[in-house]
Amino acid sequence: MQAFWLGHQRGVVQSTFRKWRLQNRPPVSTVPTVVVASRSIVTPTQCLESETSSSLPSRQRSISSPFDHQPTTAPTTLLFSPAAKKQNSVSHFHTHSCQLAQSRKGDLIGREEVIYVRRAMATLAAQSHVDLVLNVDNINPNVKAMEYAVRGPLVIRAGEIEKELAMGVKKPFTEVIKANIGDAQAMGQKPITFIRQVLSLVAYPDLLSSKEFPEDVKSRARAILESSRGSAGCYSDSAGLELVRNHVAQYIERRDGFPADPNNIVLCAGASEGIRSTLKMLSTVSGPRTGIMIPIPQYPLYSASIVEYNMEQAGYYLNEDNDWGLDVSELERAVNEARKRCNVRGIVVINPGNPTGQVLTRDNIVEVIKFAHREKLFIFADEVYQDNVYAHNRKFHSFKKVTKEMGDPYDKLELASFLSCSKGYMGECGLRGGYAEIVNMDPAVKALYLKSISAKLCPTVLGQAVMDCVVNPPQPGEPSYELFSKEKAAVLQSLSERASMIAKSFNSIPGIKCNTVQGAMYAFPEVKIPEKAIAKAKSLGQAPDVFYAFQLLEQTGMCCVPGSGFGQRPGTYHFRTTILPQPEKLQIMLDKFRSFQESFMKEYQ
Ligand SMILES: Cc1ncc(COP(=O)(O)O)c(C=O)c1O
Repeated sequence: MQAFWLGHQRGVVQSTFRKWRLQNRPPVSTVPTVVVASRSIVTPTQCLESETSSSLPSRQRSISSPFDHQPTTAPTTLLFSPAAKKQNSVSHFHTHSCQLAQSRKGDLIGREEVIYVRRAMATLAAQSHVDLVLNVDNINPNVKAMEYAVRGPLVIRAGEIEKELAMGVKKPFTEVIKANIGDAQAMGQKPITFIRQVLSLVAYPDLLSSKEFPEDVKSRARAILESSRGSAGCYSDSAGLELVRNHVAQYIERRDGFPADPNNIVLCAGASEGIRSTLKMLSTVSGPRTGIMIPIPQYPLYSASIVEYNMEQAGYYLNEDNDWGLDVSELERAVNEARKRCNVRGIVVINPGNPTGQVLTRDNIVEVIKFAHREKLFIFADEVYQDNVYAHNRKFHSFKKVTKEMGDPYDKLELASFLSCSKGYMGECGLRGGYAEIVNMDPAVKALYLKSISAKLCPTVLGQAVMDCVVNPPQPGEPSYELFSKEKAAVLQSLSERASMIAKSFNSIPGIKCNTVQGAMYAFPEVKIPEKAIAKAKSLGQAPDVFYAFQLLEQTGMCCVPGSGFGQRPGTYHFRTTILPQPEKLQIMLDKFRSFQESFMKEYQ
């Protein structure tokens, strides 16, 4: 690999690059690349060549950058500044092929706006003399159109900043606080001992003879191993290990007081996989496109997957003034409006809610079920936060239980409910465990569903083992019971304290309003963005809340996701933060937020 260091100043860029180009003319048949710094980074050579040769505006020469100090290994992107738009010139390079591919026009990265990444990518194909099968103009358009804000440009920039800090670049803060994603262990939460012990034995059965592990841990691990042909390295059935599916069904029965059929349980690699496989079943190839009702704001897995599967999003607004509850009149408005353009066939309800943190009342669930029945809709009950309920006046009710309690005809509704080991008190996001309970699906359709998931072979057996621990936890009298209960209660108690701390703090900051975080792991406060800031955002080609979130990141190191990534009523602005930073860090974060908001308002009011 060629190591090529781009100095930041114009002369250095141009002369070093020219020299390098002379020595390293790429053969016509290879994709030209420039490797910046010692590791990383691939960038279209022709872009650099044609665009650095025009003059760099002087403003850009003085931009402070890690490049001014030392070579970088930071993942970065191809950046174009607004000032460079006219001159058609590249402001400076940092680079990362992945981010390059993800960047979109209008993204603000650092203080720079991405103006034409696509053009840059097309230039690569057009000028490289390579007849590439895939270019950005001919790939699946749905893949291009789908967006996932939780890991979007802001988060990529946060990663860059972390690397810049590690290299000694001076910033007004010393660390990036990643409050963008519901990843509890990444924010310092300790794994539950029982889960990790079972997992250790399943992964390394030789430890079964060790005296270090309690008997109940060993018996769980032995059972999982027996069910998985002796090793977690074997494929399981596509729907998952029979033992775990049985335990899931027993767990649901205990939770709801109604029978559950293990044949209706499909284990999956995180709830995401189950949600996506089920959603895919509703897509059509001819006739009007399938419409799926999703809450606004919503968790972007839904909006992204709907686009990817060529379906239509039929958004219904949650009622912010009523603790983000669901209004049937709004559901009716949304379905009627959507039916003018698509065939609405499903409704997603996230309870407890992400990003809104609401926990639906039973009455509200009854209303939604009646609506789904009236409108003949498949219900997606995203219940991954069912253990995360903090409000004393709220309780989790599963959609399935309520349909059963309502009886005929509601208990015949087609419904899928999802749980995950990523959330709750476990926070085992990286182990990718989850399940879907699919109720009342036509047996012929279910057979096709199972066929469709068989192409993926199976979810990881280790992820299934975690789910087994979740649905079959230690019981009173078993050796692990006490520690397990203590650890579980401590996590949930701390999350509950953080939930109320966050809402209280935000509500004491002028210009920010936050509903009670009744459950889940997020707050979704509304922020009043002054007209002057809106105009500034517009001048940068950014949504006002995106501008706000980038300013927050650059000035404080706090990474929260702009509300537009989840959807919000036009004219309102929000951001989503997790409640997951550990209490001391959360306090620091909230203090920083307060002073950021004050200075933002001072600057733009
Ligand atoms: C509402 C909701 N559903 C599903 C998921 C998917 O989680 P996983 O795939 O990790 O189980 C998430 C993750 O944040 C979520 O918030």
